[in-house]
Amino acid sequence: MLADAQNHERDTRKKLSEVSEELASLRIAHARETAELQRQLQQKERSNRSLEEEMQQGRDELSQERETIRKLRQTQAEEEAKHMTLSAQLSASQARNSALQDEVERGALAVSAMKAELEVARLKALQVEDDAAQRISEAQAECDAKVAAVEDELRNAETIRRKLHNQVQELKGNIRVFARVRPALAHEENSPEGLAQIAYGDERQAQETGQSHLTVTTRSESATGKEREQVLTFQFDQVFQPKDGQKEVFEEIMMLAQSVLDGYNVCIFAYGQTGSGKSWTMEGGEGENAGMIPRAIDMIFAVSNQLKDRGWNYQMEGTFLEVYNEVINDLLGSGQFDSRKHEIKIDKDNVMTVTDVVSLPLSNPRQVSVLLERARSRRAVAATLMNERSSRSHSVFSLKVKGSNPLSGEECSGILNLVDLAGSERLASSGAGANKDRLKETININKSLSALADVISALGQGQQGGHVPYRNSTLTRLLQTSLSGSSKTLMFCNLSPLNAHLGETVCSLRFATKVNTTPAGNAKRSHGRASG
Ligand SMILES: Nc1ncnc2c1ncn2[C@@H]1O[C@H](COP(=O)(O)OP(=O)(O)OP(=O)(O)O)[C@@H](O)[C@H]1O
Ligand SMILES: [Mg+2]
Repeated sequence: MLADAQNHERDTRKKLSEVSEELASLRIAHARETAELQRQLQQKERSNRSLEEEMQQGRDELSQERETIRKLRQTQAEEEAKHMTLSAQLSASQARNSALQDEVERGALAVSAMKAELEVARLKALQVEDDAAQRISEAQAECDAKVAAVEDELRNAETIRRKLHNQVQELKGNIRVFARVRPALAHEENSPEGLAQIAYGDERQAQETGQSHLTVTTRSESATGKEREQVLTFQFDQVFQPKDGQKEVFEEIMMLAQSVLDGYNVCIFAYGQTGSGKSWTMEGGEGENAGMIPRAIDMIFAVSNQLKDRGWNYQMEGTFLEVYNEVINDLLGSGQFDSRKHEIKIDKDNVMTVTDVVSLPLSNPRQVSVLLERARSRRAVAATLMNERSSRSHSVFSLKVKGSNPLSGEECSGILNLVDLAGSERLASSGAGANKDRLKETININKSLSALADVISALGQGQQGGHVPYRNSTLTRLLQTSLSGSSKTLMFCNLSPLNAHLGETVCSLRFATKVNTTPAGNAKRSHGRASG
């Protein structure tokens, strides 16, 4: 029994240990399974987390996509709006376009209608033109005949007028004196001593009497220290005031200058102190300001052209000389200045020539301006040799005119001399005292000016046949044949308006008065029958 019990216990124990072993292995298996499960759980959790992250990322992307879609929708809406506007504009343009097309079509229709009308009008106009041309040419022929008749009358009247003018001049005597007061220049307006007191006579009265006067008031201190006022009146054939332009002055000498075409010798002088307007009067400036030389020549050309109708043919030539310190220089030549190579010769027929000077044939006014320009530039060269040379020399422009008329067999010749005299100031005011050359110049100027006054005075006193002191100066010898016999002389007495020059002004006026009051001689013209 015990053995049974013991067997049983052994069996039981054995079973227990087996159960225990089994339990232990179960436990191990369980632990292994638990660990496995836990590992799987962690794995699941990790994959869960990454899924969540992916989901979050997906959500973010989704919201971004939504935002993009929202913006695209907005853009689409805007584009649609724009599209609608453009479509509206397009249809408006299309509407306008078709309206314009309509208009163009209407215009084209109107144009072609007009063209048709125009063609009709053109044909009508051609017809009218033809008629008018016919009538015009008839009227023109009538007019031409009338004009020719009037022109003929005019030419006859002109010839009579010129004859009468010359007769009047002959009656009045051959010496005229015009005074001309120049205006104050811009820089003189405020000159310290101001303007001289110069008054002019009544212009209408002057026209009626043919004489005009000017009055100068001078003030000086007497020995007792009292201011003495002197009113001096001078009478001339004409007095030009500062306001009178070159045109007004020329009108008064025009007939005189023109008479060279009738065979008279004409001398026009400009006398006056330096700066008184001699060169301005003779040569002047451009255009309106042109002086007597260019105006006289233009007029002589114009009149000689008119006289062609009456059968007259004129030949003209010009010389331009300068007399400086009694020596003649050729302003048109090319020789040296002041070298004494030009001599004055007078042949037995009383024809005067200056040796070796250039005499330019002149057939139109253009050649004259070339001549004047040549003289001007040569004078400018000489001026660099000596200061203010032109004020200290006489310049003599001579236009020789020879006319012949084969129809009437007449011939005539005359010379127009236009002389710009040297400045007339006295020794003291020229400042010559200090300088030998200046003194010589001044003595020569005074000598030649007083020789000129003596010659004019002798001529005026009718001493044509008697003694006229031509030989006392180069200038009077040069002008001898022009001044003697068949000559008309005019002297401009140029005056400055300034108080500072009043002394010289009075001297000039006295000189001019002396020339003016010489008794009248008669001008005779050189006019004869052609011998051949
Ligand atoms: N009537 C005038 N109107 C306007 N300007 C004038 C007139 N007369 C003279 N002048 C001016 O006055 C100045 C002096 O004149 P101009 O040169 O003619 O004097 P001039 O008598 O020839 O002097 P010179 O003896 O020194 O040669 C110039 O500037 C000229 O342009
Ligand atoms: Mg001058």
